[in-house]
Amino acid sequence: MATPHKSSPPVSATALWMFTCFQPAVSAWKMASVFRRTATRRVSIRQTHSLGLLRQTAIEELVKIKDAGTWKSERVITSKQGSLVTVEGHPQQNILNFCSNNYLGLATHPAIIAAAQAALQKYGAGLSSVRFICGTQDIHKELEHKIANFHQRDDAILYPSCFDANAGIFEVLLTEKDAVFSDELNHASIIDGLRLCKARKHRYRHMDMLDLEQHLKEEKTARLKLIVTDGVFSMDGDVAPLDKICTVAKEYGALVFIDEAHATGFFGKTGRGTEEYHNIIGEVDIINSTLGKAMGGASGGYTAGPKELIDLLRQRGRPYLFSNSLPPPVVATGIKAFDIVLSSSNLAERVRHNTERFRDAMIKAGFTIAGKDHPICPIMLSQERLASVFADEMLARGVYVIGFSYPVVPKGTARIRVQLSASHSDEDIDKAVTAFTEVGKKLKVIS
Ligand SMILES: Cc1ncc(COP(=O)(O)O)c(C=O)c1O
Repeated sequence: MATPHKSSPPVSATALWMFTCFQPAVSAWKMASVFRRTATRRVSIRQTHSLGLLRQTAIEELVKIKDAGTWKSERVITSKQGSLVTVEGHPQQNILNFCSNNYLGLATHPAIIAAAQAALQKYGAGLSSVRFICGTQDIHKELEHKIANFHQRDDAILYPSCFDANAGIFEVLLTEKDAVFSDELNHASIIDGLRLCKARKHRYRHMDMLDLEQHLKEEKTARLKLIVTDGVFSMDGDVAPLDKICTVAKEYGALVFIDEAHATGFFGKTGRGTEEYHNIIGEVDIINSTLGKAMGGASGGYTAGPKELIDLLRQRGRPYLFSNSLPPPVVATGIKAFDIVLSSSNLAERVRHNTERFRDAMIKAGFTIAGKDHPICPIMLSQERLASVFADEMLARGVYVIGFSYPVVPKGTARIRVQLSASHSDEDIDKAVTAFTEVGKKLKVIS
């Protein structure tokens, strides 16, 4: 049965008056909303066009990367970081990991984990502030003192990462009156940091002291001269000739800066880094390094050096002034890592032993390994494709390593970069060498 129409309620005189009075406003509102809709449509057409252009540009770049064979994919680890890991999509449970910067094996050290847990309880997850507003806790100061003490420097300043420490320092320190001399293979973060500063820039050939001197000779009138080098170069595992650099620096009245990301905590007899390796502790003027590799592996970076410089960085360093303070559990892992390294050099000794064992066995097996004395051991393979197939074959044998190719390393110098850790046992190393030998023979890299 059809529902009977209800009769409309009578329209009151007041309602009619209100409708008449507000009619223009209602129409204006309606027109405005039509205009808004049209404008939004026009903006969104423009946005769609811009977004399409952006997508197209990205796709073109991505295709170039794929075509060049330099695509980097991420393998997903489903366990803690360590010498044994599990990898998503890989049936084997305990895969031997030979490609992390966890040189001292501290990322999963029980004392480090306990320190992080205790700091989380006592200080919370984070500061929600930069350092100078309300982002400095007593533990931040404690860690900075510990770092300064470890490097035997006046003071130290923490950053969210070593990338930030490198990105921030040069523009604070150097002006157009100054000159900077940088090894051509320095880390990307140094290159970016130097781009931001106004000093005259010189790039000297990798570890070439004659070339460095040549550049220094061109800068007789510079106010400050700063030589900048990685302590250890991460792609080649080679160690900067820091003793020679310091001698040259003295001769030309230059300062020396080193990036110790691949040295702090484990390189040199007691893990004091490249200065200690060369027996010249205290000669370098400024040290930047990371907490994200050997020193617990969480994150964080720092500069250690003269008090006045550190004071100035606290006033002017942009990543310090404009980026969040390091979270308390991360700070606690840094403190504990320095405590461990300061209390004993056993772990540094173990890294040295493992490095020697691996390098010796691999050379004996017929491989070419770049670098010297350092746990970064690049197995040189030349061809890009070979490096990637080699890494896949290694994973199939339960050893996780990665092939490095252009643009990370120069064309035609593809390699597998092995990194030794104190957490590797002799047996782990021997298994890796056996796998390398098997794959090397299969792919005709060795006979
Ligand atoms: C030589 C060097 N410097 C700086 C960094 C950056 O360190 P962080 O991870 O603390 O930003 C790295 C990391 O890859 C490095 O290898």
